[in-house]
Amino acid sequence: MRAMFDRIAGFYDVMNSVMTAGLHHGWRRRAVDLARVAPGDRVLDVATGTGDLALELAARVAPGGEVIAADFSEEMLTRARAKGVGAPVPVTFEWANAMALPYADGEFAAATVGFGARNFADLDQGLREMTRVVRPGGSVVVLEITTPTRPPLSTFYRQWFDRVVPVIGKLAGDPEAYSYLPDSVKRFPGPHELAARMDGCGLNVSYILTAGGIIALHAGTRRG
Ligand SMILES: C[S@@+](CC[C@H](N)C(=O)[O-])C[C@H]1O[C@@H](n2cnc3c(N)ncnc32)[C@H](O)[C@@H]1O
Repeated sequence: MRAMFDRIAGFYDVMNSVMTAGLHHGWRRRAVDLARVAPGDRVLDVATGTGDLALELAARVAPGGEVIAADFSEEMLTRARAKGVGAPVPVTFEWANAMALPYADGEFAAATVGFGARNFADLDQGLREMTRVVRPGGSVVVLEITTPTRPPLSTFYRQWFDRVVPVIGKLAGDPEAYSYLPDSVKRFPGPHELAARMDGCGLNVSYILTAGGIIALHAGTRRG
């Protein structure tokens, strides 16, 4: 898994923009809205990849805040660091495994994960770790692709993921990575179940669906 992300790091940003028609920036902004962060906050972005969500967080915690952005792919981190130059607050891109975050309990005002939770080897463990490191009353936000259930989008979506995305992957020279993508989305729990799983980790959760039901944004507030 880690090797696959190392391999795709070089063309990850371009593929994101192609596959979402550039809409992913708006979804990230909404995710950060839901994180309810403020200037001066110290926040964490888990599975940060090339760092887009971390940089969106940086804009919102300025001035005076700080962003820690963690990933277990060194190639992704290298690219993220190059993009982070000139951010309005310090952004530290560092290696960490989401299954065992190297941070203290309650260290952060918020923790986010964008298009990463579906890759966690153990989803509940990842959610528990994110919850643990935010302070009581802090936010855990999960931005993820989800499977729409109603036509016409459900039909379009099946065609897109089962036929178009694997072809894009082949053209990009990495068919394995881009057949993994639809598989990982299908395996991931639907929005209602994800909300329940987050609740089980100690969060009060609400969620919204956008992009015609293809994108789910879950926001949890840590209890106690
Ligand atoms: C699809 S990318 C998403 C990147 C970024 N958050 C975004 O919004 O574009 C998934 C990322 O999750 C990372 N990842 C997956 N499992 C992880 C884990 N257990 N710990 C840390 N990073 C992980 C991968 O290395 C990859 O960079």
